[in-house]
Amino acid sequence: MPEIDQNQLPRHIAIIMDGNGRWAKQHAMGRIRGHKKGAQAVRTTVTACRELGISCLTLFAFSSENWGRPGEEVSALMNLLADYLDKEAPTMQKQEIRLTTIGDIDRLYAPVREKLLEVQKLTRQNNKMVLNLALSYGSRDEILAAVKKMLADSREGKLSPDSVDQDVFERYLYTSGMPDPDLLIRTSGEYRISNFLLWQMAYTELYFTDVLWPDFKKDDLLKAIAAYQSRERRFGLTSDQVSGRK
Ligand code: IPE
Ligand code: IPE
Ligand code: MG
Repeated sequence: MPEIDQNQLPRHIAIIMDGNGRWAKQHAMGRIRGHKKGAQAVRTTVTACRELGISCLTLFAFSSENWGRPGEEVSALMNLLADYLDKEAPTMQKQEIRLTTIGDIDRLYAPVREKLLEVQKLTRQNNKMVLNLALSYGSRDEILAAVKKMLADSREGKLSPDSVDQDVFERYLYTSGMPDPDLLIRTSGEYRISNFLLWQMAYTELYFTDVLWPDFKKDDLLKAIAAYQSRERRFGLTSDQVSGRK
């Protein structure tokens, strides 16, 4: 297993869990079976992150664009989500994980929305890790909603346009209060961001793997973290500056 430096863990890992459909195809199964197997990979990844001491894990589970998939697949994904929440709530409690969400939650099927609210309420005091599910999430919509809310607040005299800076803007995003992701993992060999956390990933380290999401194991997570730890994050400075040599 790859060596991990416990003192240099990414604080926030975000994952684009992709490849369920292709996994199913490889195994001569329907796409929905791939999503079921993908839910299993979610369980192992959440537990592995919790054990490692990651503070925040954001999982892209359903995008605003995914609403355009065949109705059968959309409802299967909604049902799977409700099932996941049902089954995992006790584990989240035991592992002291707090559940949060980002995205247009009002658009989700009512039973899923209710379940989400219930588990969020149940786990709200937990402080060992945040499990943040991106559901009906699209980053451009998030940014537009933030702009609209800012304009409304400005009209109502609650926000002065001159005061708008990066910190103020971030408070209007779904991710308000969360650190930006340090590491983004995308599975299934696709090299794109697909409308995920566009503002928040300005300086995130990107890691792509060919592994399909249902095959993603703890070892794959450790490989991604090891790759992250081998990089030098310069944030626009020179290597000498960041290493303190000046
Ligand atoms: C990711 O797997 C899960 C969701 C987007 C909900 P896909 O369903 O996108 O799998 P592929 O890309 O078709 O293989
Ligand atoms: C991104 O995967 C969304 C999720 C993983 C939930 P997609 O499979 O929807 O992305 P594209 O369409 O291939 O970019
Ligand atoms: Mg896909």
